[in-house]
Amino acid sequence: MESKPEKITILHLDSNHPTLWEQLEQAGFTNEADYTASKQEIEAKISNYHGIVIRSRFDIDAAFLDKATNLQFIARVGAGLESIDCVYAEKKGIQLIAAPEGNRNAVSEQALGMLLSLFNNLNKSDKEIREGKWIREGNRGHELDGKTVGIIGYGNMGKAFAKKLRGFDAEVLCYDIKPFVGDANAKQVALKELQQKADVLSLHTPWTPETNKMVNAKFIDAFAKPFWLINTARGKSVVTADLVAALQSGKLLGAALDVLEYEKSSFEQLFTEDTMPEAFQYLLSADNVLLSPHIAGWTFESHERLAQVIVNKIKAIYFEEEKPTAAEKHVTGIGGVFFKSKDPKILRDWYKKHLGLATDDYGWSFWWHDKEGNAAMTQWSPFANDTKYFEPSEKQFMQNFRVNNLDTLLEKLKAAGVTVVGKPESYDYGKFGWILDCEGNKIELWEPIDKAFL
Ligand SMILES: NC(=O)c1ccc[n+]([C@@H]2O[C@H](COP(=O)([O-])OP(=O)(O)OC[C@H]3O[C@@H](n4cnc5c(N)ncnc54)[C@H](O)[C@@H]3O)[C@@H](O)[C@H]2O)c1
Repeated sequence: MESKPEKITILHLDSNHPTLWEQLEQAGFTNEADYTASKQEIEAKISNYHGIVIRSRFDIDAAFLDKATNLQFIARVGAGLESIDCVYAEKKGIQLIAAPEGNRNAVSEQALGMLLSLFNNLNKSDKEIREGKWIREGNRGHELDGKTVGIIGYGNMGKAFAKKLRGFDAEVLCYDIKPFVGDANAKQVALKELQQKADVLSLHTPWTPETNKMVNAKFIDAFAKPFWLINTARGKSVVTADLVAALQSGKLLGAALDVLEYEKSSFEQLFTEDTMPEAFQYLLSADNVLLSPHIAGWTFESHERLAQVIVNKIKAIYFEEEKPTAAEKHVTGIGGVFFKSKDPKILRDWYKKHLGLATDDYGWSFWWHDKEGNAAMTQWSPFANDTKYFEPSEKQFMQNFRVNNLDTLLEKLKAAGVTVVGKPESYDYGKFGWILDCEGNKIELWEPIDKAFL
């Protein structure tokens, strides 16, 4: 059950979706807003606050944190925390909150939109028609079908983009410094392999010392084929002058850039200087370049979703998590073990003869009683090697878990970003749904009606 916190005062430094303020107020927090004062003025009063809600108004550095003597959390209404000295904040016991779950779908949809727009010359041909030019051959497009898309940085955004690509017959590869992040939507490979195979590169890395200027002449040259680049991550990860040189040489076929090297760190301005870098002038005139003002994560839906994620995460710091009731408890037992076999019939016969399993065409149903004395069954089934039932997982096995309330559980899993495969199906013996675990293994979830068998 939720308990009311002691007085916790939160300073909102940027405006956000109203639900953020309203829900925090309803939960017993005290909200105050200051959207205009200078950083120095905020520093002078920051010791009065327990929490900060900020987008990208200014950097939160060690000097600021030293003055924030009562600060318990910083919530950034966005995906990354690069504008905060995270190491120093954590040393001071300040909890850091970001909300990548709130805008990852927006980013993935825009990345896909930009790619398809580039492939089909949509912006170029639209501009031409407005100028009275009707050019068909010069706007012949490319298809994603059969191409290889390489994703660098396979976290929230990278994974969401790979999910969007599932409907295309494209090979999707990912490269990440973390091991074992690949899943059913993207195969994790070494950077070299990605550079050998990719026709399209999409960047989804944070801005760090390693990713700063990562896409430079040497990096681009290491690609075996000419390729297209999409950058919805951070502008400073790409050396624009080298990108332009690659566009001019034909090594880069096109570029879709939602973020630019020249952006200010508040992302609210492009330049303060009067002069425009030469490379940027080239981008402005290039037909195979698509530009947008850092809006990939900026949708009506993400505006509200980001706020909701932040509210949930702030509440989770101060309120005890509600314990799931027995009815909501996720998995209640193993419902089945399914695996691929060279010849299921011979295998079933072997298990019958040597281990006494009373196998039928489906394998073997093991009957038992749960703690409350209810009838329960666990299924053991070999499947033919060419079964499609385990797809999209490429594994040799599939687990089946018994659950209490399939619909509620699927809703919760979906909201948490877990991949749900297909739609639930109902049979005489219960309801079934399918999900993928973080390694891409397919799991069958089963809400059984065991009485049907008795
Ligand atoms: N354009 C927009 O509107 C917008 C919106 C949201 C996020 N973003 C940006 O998208 C990027 C990704 O955000 P996210 O939430 O997915 O981050 P994330 O932390 O969830 O994922 C980033 C992944 O990159 C990997 N990585 C880090 N350094 C790497 C390197 N040198 N080489 C390869 N992989 C590396 C990490 O291991 C991680 O798996 C960030 O730069 C974020 O700021 C942009």
